Amino acid sequence: MNGIQKKFSIRRKKGKKNKPGLPIPIEQQLKLFRMKAILTPQHYYDQVAQGYDALYTDHISTLENKIVCDLFLETITDVPKKYILDLGCGTALGLDFLKQSSVEFIYYAGMDISSQMIYQAKKRFGENQQQEFFIEDMADLSLFKDNSFSVVTSFFGSFSHVLNYEQGLKEIQRVLKPGGKLFLMTYSRFSIKSLLKSTFGFNKHYVGFRRPYDIRNNGSGVACEALFYSPELMNDILPQFGFGDIRFKGLNYLMELPLIKISVGSNPTRVASWFNMEDRIFREHPQYAHSLITIATKQ
Ligand SMILES: C[S@@+](CC[C@H](N)C(=O)[O-])C[C@H]1O[C@@H](n2cnc3c(N)ncnc32)[C@H](O)[C@@H]1O
Repeated sequence: MNGIQKKFSIRRKKGKKNKPGLPIPIEQQLKLFRMKAILTPQHYYDQVAQGYDALYTDHISTLENKIVCDLFLETITDVPKKYILDLGCGTALGLDFLKQSSVEFIYYAGMDISSQMIYQAKKRFGENQQQEFFIEDMADLSLFKDNSFSVVTSFFGSFSHVLNYEQGLKEIQRVLKPGGKLFLMTYSRFSIKSLLKSTFGFNKHYVGFRRPYDIRNNGSGVACEALFYSPELMNDILPQFGFGDIRFKGLNYLMELPLIKISVGSNPTRVASWFNMEDRIFREHPQYAHSLITIATKQ
């Protein structure tokens, strides 16, 4: 077991509560979550694309990006020829990570369903032979041949918006070379915030598998649907799609609670020590985080 493996491995458990539930009809979701509208991800992210990067310039986001970037680069460090596919690339955070580092990569493809997010990505980085962007649904990777990438990644929840996750995983498995790395960030089903909301809000749907997601809980009442994962579910489904060597890391356990965000979030040093403390306390329990990072290898 190497360093990362030891750090993020958790025991495999199976449980009924982790199985995907039946989808709740949209009209019922609107009522249950007091939403005005539930949009498709395409429509939702088209609307927020222009101001998207500006939403993530605070100290908490900056440190989260650094933690994710370091872990991602560590994960792909031994991959010999780096052909990287970034699913739900948004404004191309994945390319930003690569460019900030000295990692040499042969090819980067960024794919997103939102034309406006891709517009922002192209404006930021441009396109050339080494880096290209595609406006597509990641559940359909027919643009790419079998075994064409050595790394498939999806940062900060993009894969959670693929409601047909089985089709999504089947496609990822197809385009990834044997031995290739999967770095998948999804929203976590049993985050502390969701558990508190479901307990004190008396609404068990806050820990449902499929529910609305709005960026930064912005209170606009507009959201899009997403799937919320647990390590147990990932451990159940990933081997069915040919993935092994599965490990997890949780990111942001308590910092998303408004009181903590306000008291800690304005000071970069305090944010750093808070994240360190969270990592020490919750390392073995990634399911309680806001974001669940799953790292796996195609067998
Ligand atoms: C929370 S944002 C994350 C963006 C980027 N990965 C980042 O970390 O900054 C989710 C992104 O996933 C994209 N997305 C949602 N569903 C998608 C799908 N089925 N296929 C491709 N992209 C999708 C959205 O358009 C949006 O850009």
